[in-house]
Amino acid sequence: MKLESLALAAEIDSSKFNLLLLDQTLLPHEEKWIDIKSNDEMIEAIKSLRVRGAPLIGVAASLMIAKLAHAGVSRDELLVMSQMLFEARPTAVNLMNCVDRMTKVIRDNFNKEKIVDLAVQIFNEDVQLCERMSANGAELLQDGDQILTHCNTGGLATAGVGTALGVIRRAHEHGKKIHVYVDETRPLLQGGRLTSWELKKLGIPFTLITDNMAAHLMSLGKINKAIVGSDRIAVNGDFANKIGTYSVAVNCFYHRIPFYVAAPYTTVDPLCANGSFIPIEQRKREEVKGYGDLQWAPNDIEVYNPSFDVTPHQLVTEWILDKAVYFKKDIEEGVLKSC
Ligand code: MRU
Repeated sequence: MKLESLALAAEIDSSKFNLLLLDQTLLPHEEKWIDIKSNDEMIEAIKSLRVRGAPLIGVAASLMIAKLAHAGVSRDELLVMSQMLFEARPTAVNLMNCVDRMTKVIRDNFNKEKIVDLAVQIFNEDVQLCERMSANGAELLQDGDQILTHCNTGGLATAGVGTALGVIRRAHEHGKKIHVYVDETRPLLQGGRLTSWELKKLGIPFTLITDNMAAHLMSLGKINKAIVGSDRIAVNGDFANKIGTYSVAVNCFYHRIPFYVAAPYTTVDPLCANGSFIPIEQRKREEVKGYGDLQWAPNDIEVYNPSFDVTPHQLVTEWILDKAVYFKKDIEEGVLKSC
């Protein structure tokens, strides 16, 4: 059996289980696939963002657990290794959801085939969730729309077409004449490096801007919608996404521009009452001081580097999920508690 997506590939039969990741730290200039052989390699890949995006890290961790089970790792060892994957990044709840599903099977019914089947099911399910969410969201986009997006939410961040970028892609494929403004997304440049790479490949018209240009463009009437993804949605509709998303939402609110969040149900955390409970990943200071070998800030300075921020539900126009598109009224009625 073969599983293939833009950034992850697996080849599985009774004698082998190959798990490959497209190293996203090297994009857009180098397209290098890495063969992940151990749990430590997968954890390193998740922490260093070689594989990234909330849904995709959940899928990758599930397949890693399946690969270990396939190789004959014992039940107890597998539970320890799963816990290490669970803790690799703290904000994206998809990772925890997927690892929880895998560990339930390991605990309740330790059987190598069942563990592999569940990981494959999680991969295929993510493809389907992207399809449904993209179809729901594409209805909201119209000819002539000029849409701002932040970070990378496409095929590189999921097993399928993506979340926010999936919506944009399907609208474009339906023949809607849209133009995308891509926030560069400081400090790790997921917009500049990854979203630009994807949109260019897809032939979707876009313009790259730095994050601090968005409000100016809004004031000039050049942006009339914004759509982003999410790493965790609380039941009151607050949500965490890549740092800078909150600024996009505030800017949209001031300029009366509709602001949408697109995510599968696997991103909703029913145990999280509001955004203040979402853990925010703090990353290394070097990421703010430079990129790769290029360092522009002096040594020995104080740096603050939260990787995500929380956008309050009051700033969201509509929540695009796989089941349906929800309005504020639906969220107030508690629809996210059981989606
Ligand atoms: O740190 P990253 O690159 O994993 O952050 C990704 C995002 O913030 C995405 O917007 C998010 O995962 C939702 S899209 C699939």
